[in-house]
Amino acid sequence: MYRTHTCGCLRADNVNETVTLAGWVQKVRNLGAMTFIDLRDRYGITQIVVEENSPEAVRATAASLGREYVLQVTGRVVERSSKNPKMPTGDIEVAATELKVLNEALTPPFTIEEESDGGDDLRMKYRYLDLRRPPLQRAMILRHRMAQSIRRFLDSEGFLEIETPYLVGSTPEGARDFVVPSRMNPNRFYALPQSPQTLKQLLMVAGYDKYFQIVRCFRDEDLRADRQPEFTQIDCEMAFVEQEDILEVFERWAKYMFKDVMDIDFTEPFRRMPWIEAMEKYGSDKPDLRFGMEFADITDLAKGHGFSVFDGADYITGFAATGCAAYTRKQIDALTDFVKRPQVGAKGLVWIRIDESGVKSSIDKFYTPEQVQAMAERCGAKSGDMVFIMCGEKFKTLTRLCALRLEIGQQEGLRDPKKFAPLWVVDFPMFEWDEETQRFYAMHHPFTSPKPEDVQYLESDPGRVRANAYDFVCNGTEIGGGSIRIHDAKLQATIFKCLGFTPEKAQEQFGFLMNAFRYGAPPHGGLAFGFDRLCSLFGGADSIRDYIAFPKNNAGRDVMLDAPSYIDQAQLDELFLSLVKPE
Ligand code: AMO
Repeated sequence: MYRTHTCGCLRADNVNETVTLAGWVQKVRNLGAMTFIDLRDRYGITQIVVEENSPEAVRATAASLGREYVLQVTGRVVERSSKNPKMPTGDIEVAATELKVLNEALTPPFTIEEESDGGDDLRMKYRYLDLRRPPLQRAMILRHRMAQSIRRFLDSEGFLEIETPYLVGSTPEGARDFVVPSRMNPNRFYALPQSPQTLKQLLMVAGYDKYFQIVRCFRDEDLRADRQPEFTQIDCEMAFVEQEDILEVFERWAKYMFKDVMDIDFTEPFRRMPWIEAMEKYGSDKPDLRFGMEFADITDLAKGHGFSVFDGADYITGFAATGCAAYTRKQIDALTDFVKRPQVGAKGLVWIRIDESGVKSSIDKFYTPEQVQAMAERCGAKSGDMVFIMCGEKFKTLTRLCALRLEIGQQEGLRDPKKFAPLWVVDFPMFEWDEETQRFYAMHHPFTSPKPEDVQYLESDPGRVRANAYDFVCNGTEIGGGSIRIHDAKLQATIFKCLGFTPEKAQEQFGFLMNAFRYGAPPHGGLAFGFDRLCSLFGGADSIRDYIAFPKNNAGRDVMLDAPSYIDQAQLDELFLSLVKPE
């Protein structure tokens, strides 16, 4: 037996017991007569003490130890003379009677402690060492607990966990596919699924009316803090349901998770916000509701008074930054620079300050004090607030103002990671117009059903059609999304037409699904949650990377495995592939 206990479990109750522990040497402190060793495993740290009167062999081994050596210790649990209340095992130490080095270790390239001195790249290269650190261990444990909690809930609701293949054909989710060449089918490629979307719909046709899977998805897209090329979804689908049924089950699920994992009670129903309201009030389809500062449309008040910037604008909107009237010139300039950065793209920023001395603004020469006051009031401003206004094309302006709202929220400490503001965003538009290619794209995916009352506009005014689609949003992040699907082959064909697919192209890409729909497809719908995002939300972190054991870096590389990498000519030949040198 390698150990009788872990390094996290011994307490004062164990005093006088003889125990054997195994773990990694975190630290050795040699105080002349005594040597203290901090022995670590994923359960905690236990102090080992080697004394002057310890056996000679024990003292010799203690003197030879280095950081991260793998050590087995047998000894007696004794009460510490100076206790450490900060450590769960801080009341005791183990007086070693035997020490056995199970393995030596090279000196790690960074410190393996709560806070490490290693940079990002180094820690990614030695991920297995970084994973020994408590913050990453907590993240892995949280992820595990969440996965178990999800399975418990969905199992209790009668969902079946069914796996779907990874080597599939292309799925139309809007990102690029990762492809895999086929040796047995020369010149043909599998695609890794961007999600199991079509497969879960086929499971509905097959009669498995409540399906879920905690499943890896693959998307070749540019990476951000909340995006990885391979990530995990909690993928769900149900048959014989309407939107309301799905929102009901998964709202209960979300509340169960918050309670089970975080011990947080949500007794009120989650807010439901139509997409257009989310856009007009917060400039985003994933509004951060941890704080207010809602936008107001002031186009009618601001236009037509001789201020050419506003007069030429399509849309003018602003919000009151609560309690920010004391912002200095310098702070306003910094915010103006912020919104002018290419990532935000605004041309400028108008402000109105309201305090005891009255109303003052950067546009005073174009408007009467009453007119400025009216704009501020429309934005809900009170004395002590600062109103910020932008103008331009409607949705671009809203998105830019959203960036400013979030920046101010951040600066004012309103985006508290311990606070949770979940909501459903509903009534998404069916299509999104793309200026570049001059065509409509499905906002969710092409299998999403339009709202029945909007079907009449499909051909005449597609931009007006709303979908039976919904997102689960929390703290400004899209955690999940889904829709009621089309189960009617004719309606599906119309949608493909709206999306610019010829019947032949639609048949080629989605024939398998449209054919299946001819064999008795039940009404169905579902959704998928980003599991990594849910973990980082619960863990209070910005990046999903820390919740993935072996993530990719921002260039999509695994620097530890050195992947992607070149392959042998023999392997290329076998796959009938030849390489073209990039320019
Ligand atoms: P969607 O594309 O909205 O829907 O994805 C669902 C959820 O997956 C998460 N997500 C990601 N997480 C990390 N890295 C990524 N690159 C990434 N991309 C998406 C998000 C998102 O909300 N098949 C549909 C779902 C359905 O209709 O049932 C789908 O995949 O949290």
